Amino acid sequence: MKRVYFISSNKGKLNDYLQIIKEMNLDLELRHLLPVSEEAVYDSFEKTAKHKLLSNLPETLEEDTVYFAEDSGLCIDSLKGFPGVYSSFVLKTIGLNGILKLMDLEENRTAKFVCALAFLESPRKKLTKVVTGLSKGYIHTKPLGRKGFGYDPIFVPKGFHKTFAQDLNLKNQLSHRRQAFEKMLNTLFRGKNNATITSKQGK
Ligand code: IMP
Repeated sequence: MKRVYFISSNKGKLNDYLQIIKEMNLDLELRHLLPVSEEAVYDSFEKTAKHKLLSNLPETLEEDTVYFAEDSGLCIDSLKGFPGVYSSFVLKTIGLNGILKLMDLEENRTAKFVCALAFLESPRKKLTKVVTGLSKGYIHTKPLGRKGFGYDPIFVPKGFHKTFAQDLNLKNQLSHRRQAFEKMLNTLFRGKNNATITSKQGK
């Protein structure tokens, strides 16, 4: 069994990864490391993800173990990508209702979730790699569903009619997080793992 350490204080993300691993039937043990350093926000998800990883690595790295961190958020097209890298702050301040107010009477409701995932490709050389996953969809007019976290109650994935918060199984089959995680596993374990690492929806 392979071991992966996820560096994050976000329980919603952790639950997503646990469900993704279960759903993909992977022989992977996911462990959780709380970040020690304060989170800084850079102008891209990729830079922030890399910072989260490198500033929170334990002094001694375990052999044969993958360390990863992620930065993610919601980008709304009619708001020119807002809240983007500020998704966490915006949710804590104006919240879902604040976002819905900004979208009032807006016809173009398209949006995407982005997940940038930074991991150590070679722990010995501290060589990092960043992969990204995208989930396209639109912003509903009201929050629906109680599952998931963050913006899940207002995000409907393209081609479906339920929010992520109404159908967590659907979310974890096609989400930005699922796609980025698959990319990481494919980079690290392709040919070395019996598990089939594929996504049911778009790459
Ligand atoms: P950060 O990656 O810690 O900066 O946090 C990103 C923020 O974006 C989270 O706190 C959520 O508010 C939001 N977010 C990221 N991924 C998701 C998701 O899968 N569903 C809902 N909200 C998300």
